Amino acid sequence: MNIVFAPSRTDLPRLVGRIVGEGPLPEGTPALVAEAAAAARFAGKPGQTFEAFVAGQAGLARLAFAGAGDLSAAGRRAALERAAGALVAKYLTSGEEALAIDFADSGLSAQDAAAVLLAARLRSWQYLVYRTRLKDEQKPSLKTIVALSAPEGTESVWDIESAVAEGVEFTRELVTEPANVIYPESFVARCQERLAGTGVEIVVLDEKQMAELGMGALLGVAQGSVKTPRLLAMRWKGKAGARPTAFVGKGVCFDTGGISIKPAAGMEDMKWDMGGAAAVAGTMLTLARRKAEADVIGVCGLVENMPDGNAQRPGDVVTSMNGQTIEVINTDAEGRLVLCDALTWVQKEYQPATIVDLATLTGAIIISLGHEHAGMFANDDLLASQLDAAGKACGDTLWRMPIGPAYDKLIDSPIADMKNVGPRYGGSITAAQFLARFIDKGVAWAHLDIAGTVWIDKAGATHDKGATGFGVRLLDRYVRDVLEA
Ligand code: BES
Ligand code: MN
Ligand code: ZN
Repeated sequence: MNIVFAPSRTDLPRLVGRIVGEGPLPEGTPALVAEAAAAARFAGKPGQTFEAFVAGQAGLARLAFAGAGDLSAAGRRAALERAAGALVAKYLTSGEEALAIDFADSGLSAQDAAAVLLAARLRSWQYLVYRTRLKDEQKPSLKTIVALSAPEGTESVWDIESAVAEGVEFTRELVTEPANVIYPESFVARCQERLAGTGVEIVVLDEKQMAELGMGALLGVAQGSVKTPRLLAMRWKGKAGARPTAFVGKGVCFDTGGISIKPAAGMEDMKWDMGGAAAVAGTMLTLARRKAEADVIGVCGLVENMPDGNAQRPGDVVTSMNGQTIEVINTDAEGRLVLCDALTWVQKEYQPATIVDLATLTGAIIISLGHEHAGMFANDDLLASQLDAAGKACGDTLWRMPIGPAYDKLIDSPIADMKNVGPRYGGSITAAQFLARFIDKGVAWAHLDIAGTVWIDKAGATHDKGATGFGVRLLDRYVRDVLEA
């Protein structure tokens, strides 16, 4: 989606939309249109839309209203997104190629207007690369959004927000691509391509290098696949500082479960078991594009979890990079095995002060929180509150879950230092406890279980059904409000 700015009303598309609250319609609305809106019970409620066909300067014009509901409330950004998303969804395949959003006398700030534009762009994103037989009327026609009479300063805010859009879109692309296209090697290649020229420094470890480093946990997962694993590190050094911040993502490009194989129904969803890694990659793109003043390292542990003749078995004992031994009770609890070595590596290599990991780690977190919040587990209250605030500010919301010694002891093993699964109950928590055993003393750490938020089968305000891009806006907001503050 193209976003362009128009200061005046010449050369406008025939479709003009307005974001409206629950009050009266904007001044200048033709009386008959206002009457029609009332007749159609349009009241500016969140996500409500209304359209009138009117006589324009050069023939037919379409006048659209999108409701934002109560704009005075704390949920202002979400309300604006609802309206913008509804407007774009309504016209995406309408045949119209351009939509002007008229901000004149809207009472919106530059921040508000940029939020509208970001939501409009994100809601329009679809990945149609493999849809070769779409009929014309199924194809998105809307190509351009014209920001008309945007409040002063909107363009410079949009400069930054468009970097966020790029990052979210890149993450969605990685998540949406099937596993025959995106596997560890091609994930790395796609990142190298997209990050080329941005100033992000890239380091890639192959299987041999990981073996030399002793990453037995990650390699144990990978050994059942013909697709070889990679560890991808991306550094954006927008500021020289003492200790960097690390974002670490689970990149299981496909999760069959391994020998503890998953049921066939729904297994296709496991192409997006690399949503954490994709969020990290998208965030690095955003940070570089907007030249964030922060020192951030993004690390992706990339594997495929397959059940071939060389696959690891339940009961196998593997040794992680920091020397801890793990009894693999269930080969489907593979994310933590990948992450533990990625976490050890980033701490050894870069001594980050803070680590946030993102992982589609457990089905149990979907049982707990559905698709509305990701689960957050943290060893540091300040970091937890900062992430919580970032989530509330951008809409990638988090809900903090507990960790503690009573949960930790549930993963003790009689044969090794730990086992990779605990008992049935509290599965998201014991998964977090497993990761906690790999965090060095003095490091502030948060683990985000994003299994319920990476992919949603229903469209929302800022996304179509499918990949949401969850995590990019969250981490970008955290960097802005905490690291760059
Ligand atoms: N990738 C899955 C978790 C998952 C499930 C993500 C559904 C998204 C949707 C993870 O690797 C997994 O299989 N976890 C197991 C852990 C269990 C074996 C302890 C699970 O959640 O069932
Ligand atoms: Mn699994
Ligand atoms: Zn998995």
